[in-house]
Amino acid sequence: MRPAAGLSLTASGTIPQELLDLPWHLPLVEWPDDVLAALPRGISRHIVRFAYLGGSVIAIKETSERAARHEYRMLRQLGRLGAPCVKPVAEVTGRAGEDGQPLSPALVTRHLRFSLPYRAVFNQMMRKDTLQRLIDAQALLMVELHLLGFYWGDVSLSNTLFRRDAGHFKAYLVDAETGEIHPSLSAGQREYDLDVAQVNIAGELMDLMEGGFVDEDVDAVATSHQFIDSYRGLWQELTGDTTFNPDQRWLIEERIRRLNELGFDVEEYDIRSAREEGNLLLRPKVVDPGHHHRRLMALTGLDVQENQARRLLGAIDAYRAATDPHGDESVAAHMWTQNVFQPTISKIPRDLRDKLEPAEIMHQLLDYRWQLSDRQGRDVQLEEALPSFIDEELRGYRDEAILMVNPPTDVIRQLDPSAHPAEQEESVPDQDASAWYG
Ligand SMILES: Nc1ncnc2c1ncn2[C@@H]1O[C@H](COP(=O)(O)OP(=O)(O)O)[C@@H](O)[C@H]1O
Ligand SMILES: [Mg+2]
Repeated sequence: MRPAAGLSLTASGTIPQELLDLPWHLPLVEWPDDVLAALPRGISRHIVRFAYLGGSVIAIKETSERAARHEYRMLRQLGRLGAPCVKPVAEVTGRAGEDGQPLSPALVTRHLRFSLPYRAVFNQMMRKDTLQRLIDAQALLMVELHLLGFYWGDVSLSNTLFRRDAGHFKAYLVDAETGEIHPSLSAGQREYDLDVAQVNIAGELMDLMEGGFVDEDVDAVATSHQFIDSYRGLWQELTGDTTFNPDQRWLIEERIRRLNELGFDVEEYDIRSAREEGNLLLRPKVVDPGHHHRRLMALTGLDVQENQARRLLGAIDAYRAATDPHGDESVAAHMWTQNVFQPTISKIPRDLRDKLEPAEIMHQLLDYRWQLSDRQGRDVQLEEALPSFIDEELRGYRDEAILMVNPPTDVIRQLDPSAHPAEQEESVPDQDASAWYG
């Protein structure tokens, strides 16, 4: 297909031919099924569709030229700053129908693999503690974005995507249309974002409760307050002062250890004298999320999310203790990757590889093995636990490699985790994970 005259694509890398071949001369609602990733679609302000592009999936949003350009720029800048957000592919303008009538410009982003819109998270698990984890992930995302100087303007659960992260969630920004990047944010800007978040989150939870998707003992307004508390606690921990006197240097180490535990590295800190005579104040100046992620990456080359990394580092420690307690950590990490991780992951049947990310599979298998050992009162080996883990646990998951845009309530109801063959048929090869499986 020859691209229509006047069509203009702005992209950062090379534009794949397939992107030009998409039917840009048709309004998104009229795109034929064979180019769309035929997943259930849901509500959003703009029209959003998923389409196949080579071996991957992209999200296309029809919007105004100004909004598409702005959001594309925001996402690019955020990406450069290392923010957790979807990756922009292109901004498409100059679209026109075959009759020459102009069509809406579009923003194209890469579909975030293994991400779940919040409504899909609630479809599977609606317990109060799950909700708390989701809210904590959202608060951490806000803190991370604010630290980078990003003012969101429209914080909400529907503008966020969630990925499983070893018993927790990792939140990613998906809608940056109202965002602004500043050298740093004023307290007023942060407070404004918090106000918006509180109202939106309470509203979204009330919606879910009306649909019967959340435990009855959840209080939507109280939960939105918990979001604020979680944000403030983290912000204070990451940016607040610790007072100490010069004989208490261990307080510096203690503070850094706590930040590491929260998943942050302290790149720079300030020490200055406090108002009280003789005391000093310590304040982290540059903090960088991904402490465990980086450590695992350096030791094994595995690129996983923060809590998954924390879990796998724990598994490496246990492996080292069992095999060579006085040996070198990096040798143990290498042996564990070669002798435990890779062989386990390679035994996952091909048809189940879109269920969960490999690191998430490992995390869940470790939990499963622990429960099995507990039940049987003996140490069950990983290889021994694997077959029943695959049959009893993994098969029960729906494919999470690709999941839908905010599905409407009726779609969620139909989505029994064990039965939706249409979606499984549609799954594309797991490109990101293929390196894992070998
Ligand atoms: N790159 C992407 N990966 C996964 N889901 C996406 C992506 N882009 C959009 N979506 C889905 O589409 C929904 C709507 O996108 P959003 O940018 O918030 O549109 P709107 O501006 O209309 O609110 C999101 O909540 C998300 O579920
Ligand atoms: Mg949105």
